[in-house]
Amino acid sequence: LTSYDMLNRWTANKLDAVVVGVDYRLAPKYQFPVALEDVFAAVKFFLQDKILTKYGVDPTRICVSGDSCGASFATRVIQLMKNNPEFKIKIKAQALVYPQLRTLDLYTPSFRENEHGPLLSRDMALKIGCLYLTTDEVCFRALKANQHMPQGSRHLFKFVNWSIFLPEKYRKNQVYTEPILGRFDFSHPGLMDDRLSSLLVNDTLLQNLPLTYILTCQHDAVRDDGLMYVTRLRKVGVEVAHNHIEDGIHAAISYLGPPFYLHLGIRIRDKYISWLDENL
Ligand SMILES: *[C@@H]1O[C@H](CO)[C@@H](O)[C@H](O)[C@H]1NC(C)=O
Ligand SMILES: *[C@@H]1O[C@H](CO)[C@@H](O)[C@H](O)[C@H]1NC(C)=O
Repeated sequence: LTSYDMLNRWTANKLDAVVVGVDYRLAPKYQFPVALEDVFAAVKFFLQDKILTKYGVDPTRICVSGDSCGASFATRVIQLMKNNPEFKIKIKAQALVYPQLRTLDLYTPSFRENEHGPLLSRDMALKIGCLYLTTDEVCFRALKANQHMPQGSRHLFKFVNWSIFLPEKYRKNQVYTEPILGRFDFSHPGLMDDRLSSLLVNDTLLQNLPLTYILTCQHDAVRDDGLMYVTRLRKVGVEVAHNHIEDGIHAAISYLGPPFYLHLGIRIRDKYISWLDENL
């Protein structure tokens, strides 16, 4: 949590808010879905009446937020809370900063354009993704060829058809084509699991989700995940505020202090915090 300590303190001070950062267990020692389960358990624990009272939290003003894989967990936690009788509290908002929301079809326009970074190259993103699932090295080769999805996953591709969900500005003249299925000797049940790919849920599950903030960066391999989620949420009537950072790169918010310092990170942080300030 050290790398987020500064941002968490900043958020707490700026918003006069209680900030809970979840120190979830990490891959490759703890693989899918351990991290998500840790995050979910922490949220569930914190939302108990007695805990909220103890920390002086107003239960009508709670937001779940995160950046990068933290945003993936936040997205999924919000989806899991819906229709879950264990939760009586209605979350007011979700804030997702460059979220990663899919593992199927890893050849979106943003993955193509940002194949070599900046910061997050396609290979690095795929390696990190594999380590969360498995230590089997075939995983990376299968993902790199975009031929990792098993036979029987075809019905899921409608949820990520970027010919439909990406605005023309980002699609340019490219057309979505279905990946080749099951060519590698590799398979993992997580690949078809909506706990790994939050975009794989139907519209019914997306309806009535809380007020949403999504920030996407132009020069980011996972840019299109966030853009597609904006489209899908708006389509079912969820109120979404979307900031797209034209000169943005993935993970910029992690560089807010020594030894690496990015002005861009501060701009992103300030946009995100001011949205929270106005909407929470
Ligand atoms: C994706 O959507 C486009 C536009 O509606 C459609 O023509 C195409 O068949 C779809 N592709 C797949 C693989 O479903
Ligand atoms: C949507 O998904 C939910 C949860 O996975 C499922 O219970 C429901 O039947 C689905 N609805 C439709 C219309 O497919």
